[in-house]
Amino acid sequence: MAEKDKKINDDKIKHPEHEWDGITENDSPEPSWLRVAFYITVFFALGYWILFPSWPTPNDKGVLNWSSESQLEDDIQDIYKMRDKYQISFDKASFAEIMKDPKQLHFAMISGRSIFQNNCAVCHGAGGGGNQGYPNLTAGAWMWGGKVDDIYQTLLHGIRSADPDAHDSQMPAFGKDKLLPEEDVQLMAYYAIYLSKTVDERSKDHSIDLKRSDEVFQANCASCHGADAKGNTVIGAPNLTDAIWLYGGD
Ligand code: HEC
Ligand code: HEC
Repeated sequence: MAEKDKKINDDKIKHPEHEWDGITENDSPEPSWLRVAFYITVFFALGYWILFPSWPTPNDKGVLNWSSESQLEDDIQDIYKMRDKYQISFDKASFAEIMKDPKQLHFAMISGRSIFQNNCAVCHGAGGGGNQGYPNLTAGAWMWGGKVDDIYQTLLHGIRSADPDAHDSQMPAFGKDKLLPEEDVQLMAYYAIYLSKTVDERSKDHSIDLKRSDEVFQANCASCHGADAKGNTVIGAPNLTDAIWLYGGD
């Protein structure tokens, strides 16, 4: 410290209050910036105290009537307002218009994703890839048709739901109800693997009688699955040739 500064500093200090062994305890004023900051915080605290809930009374919300719930409510309203900008025009647009407009399409995809996760993913899987008994929605293999209108119908009325217009499909229990002898049930299982052009460990060395298989198929299965086994979306009979299995492919 320069001599001059030291002198000025020295003048402000009252000394000595106490002294021990040449060490003095002095009483110097705090720097003015610290005092100003102190008063600012005091006034801030007072203001905060009045404006916001700070008294532990049952219904105190402060002069601003603020609560974290009302804050959340406001934030949600803001989000709705932001969404409404898109939602209103989205609701009016036709499917074709939405597909053409990148902004609308983006909005549809984003909202659709969260609706799917909340309502559909439990059964169809997070990515729509399906599970045993729950169809894969990403494979393009539709039991009830894959046009937007078809899928809309599926979602509107459901499948085997209580709705009278629901899709309703049933396959007879050929084995249990003795509609086919046991060996034909087995034959048809191998034949289904054959139709799907896949190989099951057990079908590898099993050369099936294709002529007989086709006869049994045409007589018992073709009415629903089609003569070419490619399925029928009117009655929800799946395509058996695409190696996409609802109930497993072994
Ligand atoms: C409780 C389980 C469950 C939930 C939840 C569910 N699904 Fe499904 N979904 C199924 C089953 C099972 C089938 C197949 C029915 C059958 O065997 O024909 C199906 C079939 C479908 C089909 C027809 C597939 C085809 O091949 O034609 C579509 C489309 C579909 N679901 C979409 C959805 C969407 C979108 C949601 C959410 C809004 C949803 N599902 C929610 C169980 C569910
Ligand atoms: C009355 C119509 C009907 C007849 C007849 C019928 N099926 Fe089906 N089949 C269905 C329906 C509908 C489903 C899908 C069930 C569902 O949605 O859960 C199905 C499902 C299947 C599946 C499961 C497909 C998968 O993806 O897992 C196989 C395999 C199958 N049928 C084979 C046959 C064979 C072989 C015959 C003849 C012996 C036959 N079906 C006769 C209606 C029929």
